[in-house]
Amino acid sequence: MQRVFSGIQPTGNIHIGNYLGAIKNWVELQHKYESLFCIVDYHAITVEYEPELLHKRVLELAATLIASGIDPEKSVLFVQSSVPEHTELTWLFTCITSIGALERMTQFKEKAERHKGAVFAGLMNYPVLMASDILIYKAEVVPVGEDQIQHLELTREIARRFNSMFGEVFPEPQPILTKTARIMALNDPTSKMSKSIEGSYIAMDDDDDTIRKKIRRAVTDVGPQGGEMGPGVKNLFTLLEAFAEPALVERFRADYANQTLRYADLKYELGEAIVRALAPIRERTFDLLAKQAELMEILDAGAKQARKLAQATMEEVREAMGFKMPVA
Ligand code: AMP
Ligand code: TRP
Repeated sequence: MQRVFSGIQPTGNIHIGNYLGAIKNWVELQHKYESLFCIVDYHAITVEYEPELLHKRVLELAATLIASGIDPEKSVLFVQSSVPEHTELTWLFTCITSIGALERMTQFKEKAERHKGAVFAGLMNYPVLMASDILIYKAEVVPVGEDQIQHLELTREIARRFNSMFGEVFPEPQPILTKTARIMALNDPTSKMSKSIEGSYIAMDDDDDTIRKKIRRAVTDVGPQGGEMGPGVKNLFTLLEAFAEPALVERFRADYANQTLRYADLKYELGEAIVRALAPIRERTFDLLAKQAELMEILDAGAKQARKLAQATMEEVREAMGFKMPVA
């Protein structure tokens, strides 16, 4: 069985974009691959963050992942900072990664622009940590969104460079792109749904009425139906496809083509479909969060499994790079 690795940052406000774009995909993959899923808290500190909220965010994300269907019996679910070998390998990899390549990363350039005045070396080295996450498990397959493809290409480059300098240790991981279209902001369907845009997202822990209200307020197009859809309506159809029965989607598509679609009806049905899908996930999330000790145990057990694999790779790496002293 091939091995899959993916990571998600505990940066708060997990929304249906994250769910459809990442989490739901992972849930399917865990049945086909040996899977490791990681809450990447060390990545979350590369821009300003609130230390007193970090642990809460980690637990919330863990609970949401499990409630969404990540099965800790099937997948190894763990927190990055519980496996210190990730950062150990990161140091070694920074020594074979060119600064130029890191400076060329689109996400680095964007974030450096946005966080002007607080751009630290960790932000630039972010993709090296990501490469370590993946390669330390010799993962062959990495589900990511479009925006991470460049980081994955760098990961492959690091694997190639390492292998050619020190001998064959790492496979070159392949990305699998998420199938679901990017979910757009409800209040501005020309930009993506994002935790940093208030009013753009439905959070995974929004209550039923909040979900309904947000969908009712979603921006739709003014103008004729039947031709190519505007971005707002298109986004609602994407959501409908993700959350509702195919028959309902067909019916609304036909209405749209016949120019008889009433957006209020579409929004009503979509709101109800999202409520039906999210309510049980939200309930399970709250249940899990009420039993923090159990949640921590699940993550700890995952970390122990992951760490065994990581330590085995580190032994190979140290040997290959010429470090012969035992680890104390
Ligand atoms: P982020 O919260 O931006 O760090 O994203 C975490 C994960 O959710 C990544 O795999 C993203 O590709 C995915 N994601 C975030 N926003 C969206 C969106 N609007 N539509 C689809 N996927 C998304
Ligand atoms: N950088 C990824 C994101 O923001 C998260 C991530 C960290 C990751 N390490 C990873 C994704 C390893 C896949 C594999 O979405």
